[in-house]
Order: sequence, then structure tokens, then C-alpha cells
Amino acid sequence: MASHAQTVPSSDLAARLFATRKLTLELAAPLSDADATIQPFPDASPAKWHLAHTTWFFETFVLRDHVPGYRVFDERWAYLFNSYYEAEGPRHARPRRGMLSRPSLDEVRAYRAHVDEALDRALSALPSAALELVELGIHHEQQHQELFLTDILATFAENPLEPAYGELPPLTCFAVEPLTWHRGREGIVEIGGPAEGFAFDAERPRHRVFLSGHEIANRRITNREWREFIDDGGYRTPTLWLSEAWDWVQREDIGAPLYWHEDGTEFTLGGRREVDRAAPVAHISYYEADAFARWAGARLPTEAEWEDFGASADPAIGNQLYRAGAVIPSPKGGVFGEVWEWTKSAFASYPGFAPATGAVGEYNGKFMCGQFVLKGASCATPRGHSRASYRNFFPPQARWQFTGLRLARDA
Ligand SMILES: [Fe+2]
Repeated sequence: MASHAQTVPSSDLAARLFATRKLTLELAAPLSDADATIQPFPDASPAKWHLAHTTWFFETFVLRDHVPGYRVFDERWAYLFNSYYEAEGPRHARPRRGMLSRPSLDEVRAYRAHVDEALDRALSALPSAALELVELGIHHEQQHQELFLTDILATFAENPLEPAYGELPPLTCFAVEPLTWHRGREGIVEIGGPAEGFAFDAERPRHRVFLSGHEIANRRITNREWREFIDDGGYRTPTLWLSEAWDWVQREDIGAPLYWHEDGTEFTLGGRREVDRAAPVAHISYYEADAFARWAGARLPTEAEWEDFGASADPAIGNQLYRAGAVIPSPKGGVFGEVWEWTKSAFASYPGFAPATGAVGEYNGKFMCGQFVLKGASCATPRGHSRASYRNFFPPQARWQFTGLRLARDA
């Protein structure tokens, strides 16, 4: 039927789907079953769970719902690998994911193969609504590839043997440019996801916002500058901190980015190494980013200021990609890459926001409370996954992602 015409070229979709599925397996290649089973803290998930949950997403929303006669791999597993979809019924408690010594990593790999074969057989005959869910499933799995890496970093950071995930080069190997200020546009501008092509529901609709006079920094804040903040007593000066942030600093005894040690080293996916002072600071919370900006006599950018600034940059250039231990470094001065950048904007719906229909309507909308938007991309973001309108989001105390900051100021 003409109304079901495919809007996405299926050959390109198939190629991207199976490249994405393959990359996830490659990311898991260095891990033992035990590595892949640990849940280092309640907000992080075991590697094995990421491999299975991304597969459950395709099995449920594409194969079960759109492919007549599809046989579910194991009907007990939906309870294990449904993340947060209330419409899909009850599920295993998130903080208990690390208890799943069964199924084994090999059984999860067999699950992936079963679903991939079924997707391969079904893809050419899928209606356009199902193809859109395949597209969403690709972007969903890419999000989990990044979480896979940040969760493995958190897992290995718990082990006194300090295992390295891979032989990874430093986060950045480029000399740092002097910090300069870019005069942002003032007046009415448009932000939000493009009308054509893929974007998450939370990025739409594209709409107008007003930007006051402002300037935005040309680059991210470095570890060297973060060290100056520490040495100047930044973590011990209550007037720099929001009230709940100061409570958090004291309660959690925070005094440096998450993986820093007192001897000037930090734990990374490549193991313990000297803090690279030229690299952008990473693994800081919104609370810390906000306090640093106040200490520096500046503020965090709003998401609209960041997006208007980043819209002219090419996200595909700046992104790096961890691929089984190899990193493609970003060019000097790239706007996208290395670390996600906290903005001062709360994650909330845009005017006219409409969640996607069906169970996937729970994808973003129900998380629009108590979280802040991050822009850009990180060293763990798959190449091509981000864009200027992308709205990553985390609670203000979260630090285990590759999160940093760029300054802005009123002008
Ligand atoms: Fe998910």
C-alpha cells in the first residue's frame, strides 16, 4: 500500500542495524562472564544486561509486534531485560541486575544471534511503522554502547587490581587552545530536531526561543583548570555551591572528579595513568560544573545557547569511537567529542511535545523531572550518534558518564 511506503532505504537501514549489533559484540569481546555480570552501583547495569536488553528491545517492539509467527527466544527473559516500560509489565528490580549470574554471557550471545537472524529474515517485509522502530532500536543500542563503556569503567574502578578494559590512548593528545569567547547570536533563533531524518521525540518539535546577549567559550574546561579550582579551595567554599550541591559535597566527601586519585593519577578504561592536564575534565557532576563556573566568574550555557553555537559544527567529525580498544581521536577544537557538556537547562518538554505512540512513548517523556540537559558527545559516543539538537540528560549528582563543561557568560 502506498501509505505504508518505506521512508528509510531498507538496504542502508539493514547495514546500519547489523553494524550496530556487531559493534556491541565487539565491545564485549574483552570481557569474561564475571566481568559482564557485575553491577557496580544501582544506576549502572552489567555489560551482559546491556547486551540482552538491547536485544529484548528489538525482539519486543519489532519482532513480537510486527512479525507473524515469530517465536520469542525465552519468554521468561522479558521480566529480566525490560528496563522501565510499564506498558510491558512487571520487571526485575533495577538495583538487582547484578544478581543475574544466569543466563550466561554465552546464552545472551545466542539470544542476540536468534534475534539478529529473525530481523534479517523479516526486514524486507516490515511495514514502515516497524522500520521506524528498527531505526529507534539502532539509536537505542548506540546509547547503550556508551553506557556499556561507562558502566565497565565503573565496574573495573571497583577492583583493587585496576584492570584495563583496553590499550586506550589518552582522551586527547592535542595542545590546548587558549580559552577565547565566541559572541553568540542575540534574538529569536530556532532549536530542536530537524523535520527530516531521525531524532528522539524529546528533541521535537523544532521551535523558536529567545537568546539574550551572551558569549560562549571556544573549548571545554581542562584538567589543568580543574586543578586550579581544587587548589583554590573550590570544594571547600560553600558560597560557590548551590544549597543541595553543598549538602552533596559534604555528605559524599567530594573533593575531585570521580576517578581521580590523590597521587595525581586517574583510573581510565586504559587503566591507571597520570591525569592529562591538557585533556578536558571528565566525570564531574552538574553540581561541580555549576560551582566551577561560578568560581570562574561565568555560568553554564543554556541548551539553546549551546545548540545555536554547535549547529554549524559537524558532529561526525568530532566524535571518537572506541572500537575494541582503538580510538579515532577528534580534531583539535572539535565541538562534539571527548566529554558531554552540562548545560544549565532542566530536561523538560518543548512546546508542542508529543511522546511517540505505543510503549516506546515511555522512552523520554517520563524522565522530564529532576535532570539536566547535556550537549555534544563524548569519547564513548558512537560515531554519528549525536547531533546539535541531541538532548542527553542525567541527574545533577551523576558523575560516571564522560561529563565536562564549557563556560558561558552574559554579554
Ligand atoms: Fe534501554
